[in-house]
Amino acid sequence: MSAPALAASATAVPATAVPAGPCAMVIFGAGGDLTRRLLVPALYNLARTGLLPEHFALIGVDMAPMTPAEWAGRLRAMLESFIGSPGSESRIDALDDATWQRLVGAMATVQGDLNDQATYQRLRAALQSAAGAHGTGGNALFYLAVADRFFAPVAEQLGRAGLLAEPDGPDGHWRRLVVEKPFGHSLESARDLNRQLRSIMAERQIYRIDHFLGKETVQNILAFRFANGIFEPIWNRDRIDHVQITVAERLGVEHRGRFYEPTGALRDMVPNHVFQILAMIAMEPPGGFGAERIRDRKADVFAQLRTLSPEDAVRGQYGPGDGVAGYRAEPDVAADSGTETFVALRLGIDNWRWAGVPFYLRTGKRMSARATEVAIRFKPAPFAPFADTDLAAMPPNWLVLDVQPEERIALQFEVKRPGPAMALATAAMSFRYADWFPRLPNVGYETLIYDCMIGDQTLFQRADMVEETWRVVQPVLDAWAEGPPPHFPNYAAGQDGPDAAHRLLAADGRAWRAVPQPGKPSP
Ligand code: BG6
Repeated sequence: MSAPALAASATAVPATAVPAGPCAMVIFGAGGDLTRRLLVPALYNLARTGLLPEHFALIGVDMAPMTPAEWAGRLRAMLESFIGSPGSESRIDALDDATWQRLVGAMATVQGDLNDQATYQRLRAALQSAAGAHGTGGNALFYLAVADRFFAPVAEQLGRAGLLAEPDGPDGHWRRLVVEKPFGHSLESARDLNRQLRSIMAERQIYRIDHFLGKETVQNILAFRFANGIFEPIWNRDRIDHVQITVAERLGVEHRGRFYEPTGALRDMVPNHVFQILAMIAMEPPGGFGAERIRDRKADVFAQLRTLSPEDAVRGQYGPGDGVAGYRAEPDVAADSGTETFVALRLGIDNWRWAGVPFYLRTGKRMSARATEVAIRFKPAPFAPFADTDLAAMPPNWLVLDVQPEERIALQFEVKRPGPAMALATAAMSFRYADWFPRLPNVGYETLIYDCMIGDQTLFQRADMVEETWRVVQPVLDAWAEGPPPHFPNYAAGQDGPDAAHRLLAADGRAWRAVPQPGKPSP
């Protein structure tokens, strides 16, 4: 995340980002889905926009034997399948052959078992030849696009092979490790993983990735809050009644049953993606744009989040509905599965800004639409001088930040309805990204990979942050692991969670907003 650029107007944004310095990127799990769908398309986009290092090598490590030409062929097929396909993650209009050939020319492959030291000796040789052939200067970014059980073993093997050492002096180079999610599956396992990684390398070498932070509209929360003077004075318990964060998915668990069964919606989405959004909304203004300044303020939020008690959590599982199968009928899912596919939570933040302001979060699969939305409800006017106005019944002011698929910010307020009487009506002002800025070819990983290459940890999780987020949810995980099996399924596919999720807010005299439907954003 480079420092913010000052734009003279929406159409003339000065580019401040420059190509990253020389390096090799090593992808463990080169033949995997993440590599094909997101990492390589992101590298392609970086190359197209001139941000990929001029001196660059791409080394794919995989169990399966694969020549660089075979690897390139499969990656290209995936990229081509994105062209003109509006539903795909990647927004590619055409494949630029020169750019693609540049990437192909940088590719090498290493085959081997990730637990076998010989694999790492071959990798060492590949890095040396990349340094000679491409001038990478020995700098290397190791990307763990593999199942989480390999995170610690690969790091250990890299350490044992001496590949994480960062010597000083004229032959000095950097070595960094990108760790995908899930970072642990509980407080204890996250602590263990942190301990293992930090016994092998320094914290500054570890990049714990959360792809939600690569989304432009998530990053924009920082710009919206801290580049404008008008919101901060009302951004607190004096004016805000409560905050709702919804991350609704239309898709079911798809072919990921094996991963999802022991994971569930809470582990999959909350301590990572949803809490990242929450931290952006709740953090104090940082004193500057440096990585540690921003991470310190976010870490404060995580440390001040009250540990959840099971009464503040609701779980759900989708059954059949809307013409699709229920979760229990998905591949690799137990017929009596107790795994939750939906979760709703009521959270509190113990500090001066947020004391008494609930943050309600919900996320789930097979909800009514795909929509990620932050909605901030303001307190009502203290007094309304209009005849017959029931203040309590007046529609509230909402500030809504739509993260995806709509990318916009809207403010809902009351106006006078035209006519002789002083009658009120609800209206909204809305800013849509698409009206102001051209869409970038972007899969969301570009900024994150670029930041790893330039050594900017702003958008990455620090060890303490990860542990605090697990601390918050751990009692709920424990209760759900032990408690009696819930009455699952308890919502039909296409509904927005079980009734209990509505009761959670109703108990506080509040209600969930409707999940925004495609083409009909609210307010
Ligand atoms: C992943 C989860 O981290 O995020 C998935 O494992 C989820 O279950 C996905 O579908 C959502 O990401 P996005 O970018 O599609 O909203």
